Amino acid sequence: MMNNKLQLFNVFFLIVATIVATKLILKTLLIKSSKRLPPVVKGRIPLIGGVARFVANPVEMLKEEYESLGSVFTINAVYKNITFLLEPDVSAYFFKAGESELSQKEVYGFTVPIFGPGIVYDAEYSVRKEQFHFFEESFRIDKLRGFVDYMSQEVQICFSKWGDSGEVDLKQEMENLIILIASRCFLGREVRENLSEDVTALINEINVAMGPLTTMFPHLPIPPHRRRDKARKRLDDIFSKVILSRRSSPKSEDDMLQSLVNSKYKDGRATTVTEVTGMLITALYGGQRSSSTTATWVGANLFYHKKFWLHAMEEQIRLMKKYGDAITYDALSEMHVLYRCIKEALRLHPPIPMLLRQSHKDFTVTIRKGDKYDIPKGHIIAVSPILSNRVPHIYKNPDSHDPERFCPGREEDKLAGPFSFISFGGGKHSCLGESFAFLELKTIWSYLIRNFELELISSFPETKCDDIIHSPKGKVMIRYKRRKLVIE
Ligand code: HEM
Repeated sequence: MMNNKLQLFNVFFLIVATIVATKLILKTLLIKSSKRLPPVVKGRIPLIGGVARFVANPVEMLKEEYESLGSVFTINAVYKNITFLLEPDVSAYFFKAGESELSQKEVYGFTVPIFGPGIVYDAEYSVRKEQFHFFEESFRIDKLRGFVDYMSQEVQICFSKWGDSGEVDLKQEMENLIILIASRCFLGREVRENLSEDVTALINEINVAMGPLTTMFPHLPIPPHRRRDKARKRLDDIFSKVILSRRSSPKSEDDMLQSLVNSKYKDGRATTVTEVTGMLITALYGGQRSSSTTATWVGANLFYHKKFWLHAMEEQIRLMKKYGDAITYDALSEMHVLYRCIKEALRLHPPIPMLLRQSHKDFTVTIRKGDKYDIPKGHIIAVSPILSNRVPHIYKNPDSHDPERFCPGREEDKLAGPFSFISFGGGKHSCLGESFAFLELKTIWSYLIRNFELELISSFPETKCDDIIHSPKGKVMIRYKRRKLVIE
């Protein structure tokens, strides 16, 4: 009797278990089929095919896939799926999402050995927000006005070293100049006057160590990383001394260092020496290569498209009549032609090729034609200025150099909303140094246009894509001849 009952129970259990399992399988299949996943990039090598093509030539690969798959697609990397959102309709999610939906910490972890522990991407989000607010404070408009004098002085010192005529590598010149400007505006008088050579070499050492391998394995014990860590330690020593002497000085300076030293968290805690050091290195690192690269592209484009060089020159003559020789904040604010030339260089040659986030929730995007895609949590989400800045239904002849596309009446960058021009990112994490960058780029190029005849003697540069910052490949040789613009 007991045995019969047990057998009956077993049969009953088996039936229930089968029903539950079938239901679960059906449910999973149903969910799978109802998910509208983005199309997947195919590659010649299984598993890493798409990634290999992306690393070899990201511009070409993104262009090809955008044309065949549309504005949303996924690359299956070995252990991660990377989903690209390439038009403003879909990238809006990327730029507007909160930290609990899309976060930066996981994808920008490679910056931690450079910026330091507890700084920016290594800090809790609430702390990071406050640290970014400290940067914002040091770029307030009254501070920016003051920076223009320093920028102008550095530009004059730099170009006074050129002879009456000669040939130089524009890329090298811009790298040196941008670091001197940043040293003066961010690190202050003490560092600029006494230690600039040292700091320049150390920052370069950190830059050299940043290749694609570093983004995946930032702590790999390889010689460039060891040199990076040594340079970082030396910067720590230099900056700590300056910070401590600032703290004990009754005098207040008007540079970023002073703003950071004076900053306080919401709970009243003052910034520590380690934090100020880390934030200064963040500012130097964040702004230096992107700005020097852009300064070089601006020149290459102006020399190559002479018409715009002439327009920029006419504008300088107008402004010199109004403001005299001095390059002031007010004069810079009226350099609209030059502004558009810089913006066009940034549109065609964005220094930061990809912005990344880690997704923590499933989400759905709707493409321009109305179709929807469901993107599962766990994907890395990417937007790419190299492609988004050239979307053909937004930009007329997107591959051609035409600064006038930003003129009043055309303003192509505004036609499809705020995320059509994304060289400075956008939304929640847009670049905090954008105004500073435009001021320094305008100061450099207005000075060069006013004081030199210039021509490109090497061919128009190709883009060096195998780096975290896309820059002109090889030297960018120019010929210069000193002259003064004549104002009638
Ligand atoms: C032409 C020059 C520059 C370019 C093209 C550029 C580009 C960018 C881009 C694309 C982002 C967004 C990153 C993302 O969303 O993941 C960004 C963020 C940032 N940039 Fe710049 N940048 C430039 C100059 C500077 C300068 C001079 C500074 C000075 C400190 C700076 C500081 C920052 C900071 C602090 C952020 C992080 C903002 C946040 O996550 O909330 N940038 N920049």
